[in-house]
Amino acid sequence: IKITIIDRDGVTHEIDAPTDMNMNLMEVVRSYELAPEGTIGICGGMAMCASCQCYVESDHELPEMSDDEEAMLSEAFNVKENSRLGCQLHISEVMDGLKVELAPEDV
Ligand code: FES
Repeated sequence: IKITIIDRDGVTHEIDAPTDMNMNLMEVVRSYELAPEGTIGICGGMAMCASCQCYVESDHELPEMSDDEEAMLSEAFNVKENSRLGCQLHISEVMDGLKVELAPEDV
């Protein structure tokens, strides 16, 4: 599937994300090196650091937030109404055409 990701420098990347590799959005961002090592995915995808926070710019219907994701976002900085944790977004067909912007690093 195609996903558009705006990195922290404001640069737009259109990337191919695999649906058959059990990846989440944070892992995709890391695999394309769209954020420097050590600035995203710090907790390893456990919904405990918010370094993978992103803003969902397209109006896709994404899976509901878990309690863990909601709790983390209630404590993180720079949270907006369209914030999600990238590590909690499992890459799937429903995300085709998704557009997200990475939240600033200071989360
Ligand atoms: Fe830590 Fe997503 S990687 S909350």
